[in-house]
Amino acid sequence: MKKDSLSITDNRNGKTYEIPIENGSIRAPELRRIKLDADDFGIMSYDPAYMNTAACASSITYIDGKKSILRYRGYPIEELAEKSSFLECAYLLIYGELPTREQLDHWTTRIMRHTYIHENLVRIIESFRYDAHPMGILISSVAAMSTFHPRARDVDDPESREKQMWRILGKLPTIAAFAYRVRIGRPHNYPDISRGYAGNFLYMLDYMNEHDYEVPPALSRALDVLFLLHADHEQNCSTATMRSVGSSRVDPYSAVAAAAAALFGPLHGGANEAVLRMLEEIGSVAAVPAYVERVKKGEIRLMGFGHRIYTSYDPRASIIKKVAYDVFEVTGGNPLIDIALELERIALENDYFVSHKLYPNVDFYSGIILQVMRFPTDMFPVLFAIPRAAGWLAQWTEMLNDPAQKISRPRQIYTGYEQRPYVPMEERTSLRSTT
Ligand code: CMC
Repeated sequence: MKKDSLSITDNRNGKTYEIPIENGSIRAPELRRIKLDADDFGIMSYDPAYMNTAACASSITYIDGKKSILRYRGYPIEELAEKSSFLECAYLLIYGELPTREQLDHWTTRIMRHTYIHENLVRIIESFRYDAHPMGILISSVAAMSTFHPRARDVDDPESREKQMWRILGKLPTIAAFAYRVRIGRPHNYPDISRGYAGNFLYMLDYMNEHDYEVPPALSRALDVLFLLHADHEQNCSTATMRSVGSSRVDPYSAVAAAAAALFGPLHGGANEAVLRMLEEIGSVAAVPAYVERVKKGEIRLMGFGHRIYTSYDPRASIIKKVAYDVFEVTGGNPLIDIALELERIALENDYFVSHKLYPNVDFYSGIILQVMRFPTDMFPVLFAIPRAAGWLAQWTEMLNDPAQKISRPRQIYTGYEQRPYVPMEERTSLRSTT
């Protein structure tokens, strides 16, 4: 018997199987060998929400949720947040190594040159209703981009893939800014590539004919750090969507639109929006204990707390908390920060949160920063989608290059009826009310 293996005895017939252990895991298809007779399908593993199932091997992002470790390609997130930039990290995630000066200049120039969007796409953005959620506009616009760039369908051509990546990273901030300007009834600002990635985005959102307009460097740096922190987070819901949809070999615009749709949900990218609404609902530091009691009773969830992977402090939350104070120096403080600090203090001392291993996650403080930077709350998931596109594209590329990957297709355990005869209309009864 091999040492790195698992022996499984099927108590239905007493047969024993030896299943190899590789990288601390077993291959689920091995379980199919466990069967009662030749017609038996074999054993499947059942794992709703992928609680303990690895769907890929990846060398992009490493997380140790117990030790609060997050690394992109081996580099600690704390060091990257201090020394690197979003575009440099995007390069690192996609190509696997930090770029040389020349590579970074080429990468940055390519992305910034692709910040302009087709005028027909501008008209699509302008055709949404005045109160359209910017995330809905972003999802639809990225999907529409596939019609502007038909060569993107050739996902097996690395040159075409690279070009679509420049386009996606370059154009997402423009789509987001134009969606915002349509809503506030102001003319668009076309990209100014001399301002850098985050600086140009803030300029497109904000500029209104002011003389000597400048984006405060502290704000563009803060946004760049937020982008960097959000760039990848291994197999989260939207990234898993990107891989799954991309596995059908659809073009990257359609796959990014699907991933962005997954990110729109309140349990994922919508959480910092939910945190702000929660802090506003709490309203004062004095009201925090009563709110925590309601969470303990299971009436509500504390938004911005808890994580599937982190069972201790989310390392991104610690960095963001520091960034918040840099931003406040330029913008002035946010009264919600006091409520957030009190909420964090009480929760971290509370048995319920300790026993459930619930700590602040990345979204707990990011909304507070974005609010003082005067982003409307519904722009928050958009500000998550822009940088996460780098991670989606890195994971998509890895998936396409991985010979072990095929079209994604989970198994199911069928729990419905056996075959039954069709019932004519006049013989049917229904318990379901139509009112
Ligand atoms: N407040 C109160 N209780 C919670 C919370 C919370 N925020 N999160 C989890 N729990 C409890 C939950 O009630 C359950 O308790 P019990 O075992 O007694 O029934 C236990 O903790 C496990 O919860 P779960 O829902 O099974 O855990 P999950 O891994 O499926 O959920 C999560 C992870 C992030 C969806 C969840 O913690 C949550 O809803 N948090 C609030 C939303 C949020 O902040 N989301 C942002 C995540 S970070 C950004 C990103 O990666 O997208």
